[in-house]
Amino acid sequence: MVFIKACFRQPTPYTPIWMMRQAGRYLSEYRQTRAKAKNFLALCKDVDLAAQITMQPIDILDVDAAILFSDILVLPHEMGMELEFNEGSGPRFLNPLKTQSDLKALKGRPNLDYVCDTIAAVRSRLDKSKALIGFSGAPWTLATYMIEGSGSKQYEKSKRMLYANPAFMHDLLSRLSQELKFYLCAQIKAGADCIMLFDSWAGALESSAYLEFGWHYIQEIVSFVKREYPKTPIIVFPRGVSGLARLKGDFEVLGIDYNTDLLEAKAAVGSRFVLQGNLEPARLYDYDAMASSVQSIIGIMQNKGHIFNLGAGMLKDLPRENAIALVKLVRELSSAF
Ligand code: CP3
Repeated sequence: MVFIKACFRQPTPYTPIWMMRQAGRYLSEYRQTRAKAKNFLALCKDVDLAAQITMQPIDILDVDAAILFSDILVLPHEMGMELEFNEGSGPRFLNPLKTQSDLKALKGRPNLDYVCDTIAAVRSRLDKSKALIGFSGAPWTLATYMIEGSGSKQYEKSKRMLYANPAFMHDLLSRLSQELKFYLCAQIKAGADCIMLFDSWAGALESSAYLEFGWHYIQEIVSFVKREYPKTPIIVFPRGVSGLARLKGDFEVLGIDYNTDLLEAKAAVGSRFVLQGNLEPARLYDYDAMASSVQSIIGIMQNKGHIFNLGAGMLKDLPRENAIALVKLVRELSSAF
């Protein structure tokens, strides 16, 4: 698998590519499959439909890796938090965490068999040359959703908790880390070739607080998973974080968002991590805007220590032709190195 080789910095004939949110509303096939389920959560729980959606970008875009179709919020949901996905306003927990007894009431070892069954179903359908990525949210990002109840601009409730009651926050983050170790290992056991941790709200914290409440737990989780499965590469995506030079950990690939200058990231990280990223997804609105950035990214990375990706998730109205063209262009340009 070209993708797995690149994760371990081995030479590859071209730079592998996949796209965050590569299965989603910009694909009519996704919209059609989604219409067969009652709602988004039911779609995540339907093994056959979720496996079909996971495969769509492989068949349509010919990317080098499929990413499990699911959501980071199914873990807190199965720990007992009632979850709704509303069209337009995004996900919402009906009873966000407020007190120590809410925290105590969370279920241990949540049943996420439907996720593992989807992984097994996809792995059996997927060509051997393509990798399957499993994933979870990182503790800090999951904790903000569980405390705020929904997406947030200021993170008032979680930050109040973090500064006014750090012991509560650490309790919650430890609980999540404990479950995430088990959950990520279960995904690998079910057939995931790689796993990725999304820390989407890493950039909300000042850097010293991020190291204590975010990165610390990521390090703990990846060290655990790495001890159990040393041959499975791990990607960490701490979106919006600054001070990349200070980030250390027992994983292979660091995801870079599109606000981060790729040359600076490369200088800061050196050969410690393979870099994944970081095309601004909105460039896919226009072929030329996309192509000029692809040239620059490939020119910087030169098919070494790089996995091509977007620097954020695919947008819901991007033209698929440009996503298809992106894959071809990355393959063509990177194979010259
Ligand atoms: O990347 C993929 O194709 C794999 C599947 C995937 C989804 N969500 C499917 C999804 C992955 C890896 C995620 C991760 C996720 N989910 C994150 C971390 C990455 C990031 O984007 O920062 C976060 C923060 C969530 C929580 C979440 N789920 C939000 C904020 C939303 C609403 C956003 C939106 O576009 O409406 C979701 C819903 C969601 N998760 C959709 C998809 C395809 C859209 C659902 C739909 O309406 O069909």
